[in-house]
Amino acid sequence: MLGNFTYCNPTKLYFGKNALEGLKEELPKYGKNVLLVYGGGSIKKNGIYDKVVAVLKECGKQIFEDAGVMPNPTTDKLAEGVARAREAKADLILAVGGGSVCDYAKAVSVSVNCDEDPWDKYYIRFEEPTCEIVPVGCVLTMVGTGSEMNGGSVITNREQKLKIGHVFGEEVFPKFSVLDPEYTYTLPKYQMVSGIYDIMSHILEQYFSGTDDNTSDYIMEGLLRSLIHSANVAVKDSTNYEARSNIMWTATWALNTFIAKGKDTDWEVHMLGQAVGAHTDATHGMTLAAVSMPYYRLIMPYGLAKFARYAVAVWGVDPAGKSQETVASEGLAKMEAWMKSIGLVMNITDLGAAPEMIDGLVESTLVMQGGYKVLTKEDIRNIFVQSL
Ligand code: NZQ
Ligand code: ZN
Repeated sequence: MLGNFTYCNPTKLYFGKNALEGLKEELPKYGKNVLLVYGGGSIKKNGIYDKVVAVLKECGKQIFEDAGVMPNPTTDKLAEGVARAREAKADLILAVGGGSVCDYAKAVSVSVNCDEDPWDKYYIRFEEPTCEIVPVGCVLTMVGTGSEMNGGSVITNREQKLKIGHVFGEEVFPKFSVLDPEYTYTLPKYQMVSGIYDIMSHILEQYFSGTDDNTSDYIMEGLLRSLIHSANVAVKDSTNYEARSNIMWTATWALNTFIAKGKDTDWEVHMLGQAVGAHTDATHGMTLAAVSMPYYRLIMPYGLAKFARYAVAVWGVDPAGKSQETVASEGLAKMEAWMKSIGLVMNITDLGAAPEMIDGLVESTLVMQGGYKVLTKEDIRNIFVQSL
């Protein structure tokens, strides 16, 4: 049964070719000082930087830059960004990049006016901001995380070997996001497919939980079928606008809070993947792909009916004359074959993990309560061993 909920998503989206025009509508709403946040330089190579700067200048903004946000942004970089935003007296933080840049911008936004250590406050104690929050806008260049329309912000503490996400409330969501599918054409295939699996994983984390009948499950099956179809097109033809735009839109809906409303969710694959990320700094979506099959095979018996439904509704398994277990297993086998076919990394060894890291990985994995089985330390160890 659908649980009670409140739903509000305050992020305004500008989607499609020339979506950057939307930035001209948004910028006049904010003060003069804009902190332009971006990553390691892809936006300079593909020309997005020049386009954004031209709009900022046209709108009379004073531009301050904070470059070099790395994938899996760190606490050290966050401290740098906070100092930069304070110097700039930023009225708006404009993130131009992927989930890392967008997550980082949100972390800066809640830390600029905060006297406490943001890592301890937001990522260890999971407290909500009590200070004034600097507004964030986003120009998305990499698809997968959903960060463009949610309050998620994942930060890595390399010393503590922890990668933790805080899901902030709607006051931290980007005020607006610019989504032009053509901006994603220059992504290397590795990043594109990693993002595609991140989207799939977000949907599955919300799908494989609960046994009730709810609308979200039907929506998620549709999103998954669209994603699989579009991914198959995009891996062959990376500038296919139809496929890339569908993938971009699916990513947003996969994690903008809508499909989670009124239902239980899991998120254990993300906890396992984030542990791998904390120890190896590997690409987020690949860490999820590498641990998913051992995890799903372990929990399948505890959520058999849902796994069988998934096999039929998403992977087209014919259930006639088969046991529920056979149907469910065939679904996972089809999923695994598809993951390999699009070029996902299917083990953590290829991401830099080694057997001697297993103890540390187990320690860094948070245990969630919403899946079909609450994992024991032994379960977690077995998953990592099978993922090697
Ligand atoms: O740094 P640059 O040079 O820009 O290169 C980036 C980066 O190396 C490159 N890239 C981005 N757009 C490009 C491009 N290269 C060429 N052309 C373009 N148009 O792609 C690389 C990866 O970028 P990144 O932002 O790290 O990827 P992603 O969007 O997957 O973000 C990953 C981060 O988001 C967190 C992850 O944990 C990870 O830290 N997540 C955030 C979530 C949220 N906010 O709700 C949920 C997710 O589950 C996830 O945990
Ligand atoms: Zn993710």
